[in-house]
Parts: sequence; C-alpha cells; structure tokens
Amino acid sequence: MAGGQVLLRVLDSVRKVTGQPIVEKFINPGTLGDTDESEIYGRLPQWGASLSWSFARTVVGFFDLFTMSTDMATCSSAHIGTLIGVNPVSKQSLFQFPIYFYERQTTMANIKFFSGKTTPIEMHRVRIIQKLNLRPIDERWEAIKQAGNNTFLLKNDDVFLDMLTDSGVNAMSNDQLAAMSQADDSYAGSATFYRLEKALQEVFGMQYFLPAHQGRACEHILSKVFVKPGQVVPMNYHFTTSKAHITVLGGEILEIPVKEAFEMTSDCPFKGNLDIDALKKVIAERGKEGIAYVRMESGTNLIGGQPFSLENLQEVSKICRANGIPLVQDVSLLSDNLHFCKQREEKCKNMSIHEIALAFAEASDILYFSGRKLGFARGGGICTNSKQYYMTIRELIPLYEGFLTYGGMSVREMEALAVGMYETLDEDVISQGPQFIEFMTNELVKLDVPVVTPPGGLGCHLNARDFLAHLKPEEYPAGSLASALYLISGVRGMERGTLSEQRNEDGTEPIAHMELVRLALPRRVFTMSQIVYTVDRINWLYQNRHLVGGLKWIDEPKILRFFYGTLEPIGDWQQKLIAKFKEDFGDSL
Ligand SMILES: Cc1ncc(COP(=O)(O)O)c(C=O)c1O
Repeated sequence: MAGGQVLLRVLDSVRKVTGQPIVEKFINPGTLGDTDESEIYGRLPQWGASLSWSFARTVVGFFDLFTMSTDMATCSSAHIGTLIGVNPVSKQSLFQFPIYFYERQTTMANIKFFSGKTTPIEMHRVRIIQKLNLRPIDERWEAIKQAGNNTFLLKNDDVFLDMLTDSGVNAMSNDQLAAMSQADDSYAGSATFYRLEKALQEVFGMQYFLPAHQGRACEHILSKVFVKPGQVVPMNYHFTTSKAHITVLGGEILEIPVKEAFEMTSDCPFKGNLDIDALKKVIAERGKEGIAYVRMESGTNLIGGQPFSLENLQEVSKICRANGIPLVQDVSLLSDNLHFCKQREEKCKNMSIHEIALAFAEASDILYFSGRKLGFARGGGICTNSKQYYMTIRELIPLYEGFLTYGGMSVREMEALAVGMYETLDEDVISQGPQFIEFMTNELVKLDVPVVTPPGGLGCHLNARDFLAHLKPEEYPAGSLASALYLISGVRGMERGTLSEQRNEDGTEPIAHMELVRLALPRRVFTMSQIVYTVDRINWLYQNRHLVGGLKWIDEPKILRFFYGTLEPIGDWQQKLIAKFKEDFGDSL
C-alpha cells in the first residue's frame, strides 16, 4: 500500500498478537499509521528502522478506515482476519485482503532438556479421557481369530492402543468442542456453513467451497466430473479410495513419484515429490485430452506419510497450466506436509504456515480433503477459485451428498472443522504428530527394527518385507505382522501392502511396491509412555520374528478387499508366538 494513512483496529477476540508481519508486508514506509492496539502501538517504531511512522489519532485521506473482521473468538492461537478498506464518506468498499496475526509460540523443538535428551513434549493437556482395555493375550488371540486376522474387523473394546488410522479419531480441542454448541441446524442457509466457508476461504484464499461428507465423496464427485474412460490421472501416488473412484469409471492411474519414494530407508526429505520428467513424458504421449487431471497428494499416505516440496508442487503447477491440464491436490494430510516444508525446505523457512498453505492452494486448481484428517473433525470438501469448476461440481453435491450448505456433514462437525482449519495453521498443533512419529521411528532404528525413513507424518511405518524377510510376498508379510503385533501388544496397526491392493483381472496377486504396517498416531491422542510401550513390544516381536508365519484367505471380497476380507494363519505360528510371550513376560499383559 503506497502512501495514505492507516488505522489498524484489532478486535477483542484477537488475543496477544503482534501485528509485525502485516505491517511489514502490506504497509509501505512513510505511511501515516495509527492503531488502537497497545501491543502494536508500542512496537511500530521497532519494526524496521526504515519505517518512518508518525501517529495520528484522527485519520483522514483515501485509505482512512480499516476494520478487521474476524470470528476468531473461539480460536486460541492462529489468528486470521480480513483487512477491509472502506471510504468513510461514500461507505464504498475499497479493497479486502487476508491478514495474519501470530501468537508468539513455543514450538516443541525449542524446549531443551538439561540431560541433553530430545523428547517431544505434548503442547496441550488432557482434560477428557477415555478408559483403555488391555486384554490378556489369550483373549487377544480369540479377538484376532474372530476378526479373521484383519485388524479392520477388530472391535475397539478389544484394542489397547488404536493405531489403525488417524481418520476421524484425532482429539478435538476445547475450542472445537465449544464451537460445536453454536451449530446452526438448518437444511439450507445454515450460519454454520458460512462460518466454515469463511474459514476455508481465509485459510486457502480460494473463493468457492463445496461440502461433502468425507474425502472419498470428494473423490467420487471429482472423478464423475473429470474422468472419462481411457483417460489417465498422473499422480505422485495413489490412495486406495482415490484409485478405486478413478478406475471404476474406466480411468487409469499413473504413479510417477521420484525414485526415492520406494526406497525404504533414505535421507530424501521429499519422497512425495512428483517426477517432473515423467510428467512431461506422459503429457507428450497422451496429450491434454488423454489426461483427466494431475493429482498431487500432500503427506502422501501409502508411501509412509511422505511430503512433497512447495518447489516441486509449483513446478508441477507450471507444467499443468502451460498444458491446460487441471491440477487437483488432495490436502487430507496437508498439516504434516506444511510442517515438513517449514522444517525441511529452504524456501519455506521464513514463511509462516499460513503462507505455505496459501502457496499450496495458489499452485492448485482444485483442493479436496477429508475432514477426518485435516481439521481434527469429520467431513470433507472441495475448494476452488474457478467459477466454471464450481458450477459443474455444484450440480453433483445435492445429488450425492446433500444440500449445498451441509453436503452430508453434521453441522456440529462443520463447526469443529472450521475451528480445526485455523488450528492447522498453528505450528505447535501440527508439529505434535510428526515429532512423536520421529521419536518412535528413531527409537526403532536404534533397535535395528526395519522402518521407513525419514520419518513421515501420519504414523510410524514398519517395513514388513524386511521385518519378516522369511515370508513370501504371497503370504502377506504386512498382514501377518499387523496380526502378530496386535496379538502380542493389543496395538492395532493397519496393513498397507499387498492385501490393500486389488487382485489383478487375471487372478494374479499384485505384489505391492511396499509392504508396510502403519502405526498411525492420531493427532493429540497418545502420550509418550504409550509410545514407549509400543516400541518395547515391537522390539520383542522383532527379536522373535522367526516365529511369525504367513496368512491365507478365508474370504476375499472383490473390491477394497482389505476392509472386509478374512484370513487365517498358515500353520500354528500364533500358538508358538503366544507360548514364547508367556515364557518371557509371565503373567504380564
Ligand atoms: C490421502 C487421503 N485421501 C483421501 C482419503 C479418503 O478420505 P475419507 O476416509 O474421509 O473418505 C484418505 C483417507 O484416509 C486419505 O488418507
């Protein structure tokens, strides 16, 4: 903003803020400034020697009234508002843009121990608890038999630490719970919808928001709109539901991540990057018409929660735009990716989390997400800046999801999601998961247990192919490991390997690129001692890995077989494992 005069008005709902970033970013030296916020008032002269500020309580001129509109009363730490310029005489709106206020943060990484240890610290306290059960090993055996050795089919009552997924099981904050009570329950035009829409507009800087009941609902609708039989969707890596929705419509997926994506142990900081040359090649071969869209998945789930860099995304975006191909970003696991960009990417070091999120959105034509992951609630949605896409997608929302102002979501969840979206911009909140995962991974590395490195987001990933190297791929090492781990610890992980693939048309088994057991750490849920217990039991299992055998099908469903399929152990390895457990642990659970 050149010249003129400004009044920065900070509403009461914004607490303990510093206005430095906005002042430096938007207001030129020499501008006459005034503020009703004492924190800012006292600091204006300190913020850059080059700023020559003078203060006036009465502000006149062209840019003379700024008000900040914000609904942040329920949000404790990430403060975002819209700066609106209004001509006080004509009352005409002059401009509007988002601003960021930062609360001074103590990130976990900044807390040092006298002992020199690096132990992550929970930056929250627990105020509501849920009692856990740890059943004796014989009961666990009964439970896993009943579940057909499929951890999806275990009853939660039989599970001690549920590391199946981070989906829909993240802990909510007190602000989210408070927001739920103001839910406005109406079929059409609910105030809750407009609050959520505003949150997404502010967080992503995208104008249009289309609600859907969860992530796969967005995938269903986007596939219906974009995918025609024979078309390909190049992507950094698939997710189970995203692949199923594309292929069911006659489309094909093409995974073209960088080669490091499939290296179990690596120091590549961005294993989720797309291979740029491979993208150029597929565009040259298939042409714009042969490509439905390019899909980038942040915090790439099935390769171990691995991020891509902002630089890579921007490069992909440039190529897509030059060729008129839409770029769709699955931001379900965005929070981990934002954290890693800030930590690992030079370009992002001096950017706020919000600036990185805005840059992610700017590079994409469409964003979609599972609110079961992003935003610590449940639900989902699609964001775009394109009116054309919005109008096309809009037709399908009432058909498959619900009216445009709820899209199949409960209004209470929508309120929680709105607050959760702002919390996603708080480094303290989003760094919690990755730092616990890093701790867990590093402890297992010290014990020589094969795990995916570098640690990603979402969870710690055991490399079952190496862990159970004596098993054949057709004996489902990751499925066996998930079953064995539950048996000896009550910890429920998820098979992410061959069982999670769909059998080939010709009946052969599609051996997965990676054979993993994912131990998801839902955000803000587990404590350090629970992580330590899990590491201890995994270590015991690794020492006794020769006792673990394979699995074979009892019942194999045709689609998404890993959800409902049942299997049985090959031989009596589970009895042998139980006997050794009792020998080593006596009557311990
Ligand atoms: C990357 C990614 N995309 C999409 C989905 C699907 O979301 P939902 O489970 O809400 O349908 C998931 C769920 O785990 C996911 O991890």
